Amino acid sequence: MSIIFAMKTKEAKPFVKWAGGKQALVADIVAAMPERFSVYFEPFVGGGSVFLRLSPGRAKLSDANEWLIQTYQAIRDDWRRVAGLLDSLPNTKADYLAIRRIGSSSIDRFQRAAHFVYLNKTCFRGLYRVNRKNEFNVPYGAYDRRYYDPENLEAVASALEDVKFTSGDFECAIASVTADDFVYFDPPYYKQGGFADFNRYTPSQFREGDHFRLAAVCRELDARGVRWLLSNSDTPFVRELFDGFEMNAISARRDINLKSTKRSINELLICNY
Ligand SMILES: C[S@@+](CC[C@H](N)C(=O)[O-])C[C@H]1O[C@@H](n2cnc3c(N)ncnc32)[C@H](O)[C@@H]1O
Repeated sequence: MSIIFAMKTKEAKPFVKWAGGKQALVADIVAAMPERFSVYFEPFVGGGSVFLRLSPGRAKLSDANEWLIQTYQAIRDDWRRVAGLLDSLPNTKADYLAIRRIGSSSIDRFQRAAHFVYLNKTCFRGLYRVNRKNEFNVPYGAYDRRYYDPENLEAVASALEDVKFTSGDFECAIASVTADDFVYFDPPYYKQGGFADFNRYTPSQFREGDHFRLAAVCRELDARGVRWLLSNSDTPFVRELFDGFEMNAISARRDINLKSTKRSINELLICNY
């Protein structure tokens, strides 16, 4: 068995703003992880804040958002090309709407990645939200800021060098996990205090049934001796779902919410080790 130590190199930060991003909690989350494992799996990778902080040797990252995963791959393979394309995109409402219309369809994969980052940086509040036809539908944000930090994009590309990517449902993403590996699950959160946490990253939302399915997968991994850590909202529903596992409550501030500017969320870290 080849054990890889979780290594910290020059730290890269997420290159997109992502609803549910873990920047504020990342230190607690990483501290709760085992020190040694073989391959790191993160099937709801989103903006990647936890992966980038941990910077593990070998990793399999996945997300149901295919355009996001293609963007990671393009940055890993040639971040300079993505950066050069970003430099050529004007930040005006007319250009924004034209690029938004193109969507993730039949254009070169580096161009598509540049559009993904551009839309994230220029759209209202940096949200990724799609309609049922999977069309990105966030309005223009009119922000005067740069689309990327070259030094950071280079650090992200270097952190991604040995990463294997897939896109799709979390169950497929962990199909090859073994008892030497470790999985961090960060699903869209179960609603808390009457608020549904932001949940429109994909055309089909993550529903109660998906939370049941995820809990069943965690129990099955536990029976196979695979270690996992999971974040979710601190609610009676989640506590009941994972009854019997180790749970620790932590508190965080969220700043992507369309109804209120900022609110406190109590989160749970649940693990089987
Ligand atoms: C809470 S976010 C993850 C945030 C991430 N940890 C970060 O720090 O940016 C949840 C992610 O789950 C993805 N997702 C939604 N349904 C999914 C599914 N069935 N399987 C895998 N990923 C899914 C969304 O696209 C979103 O990126």
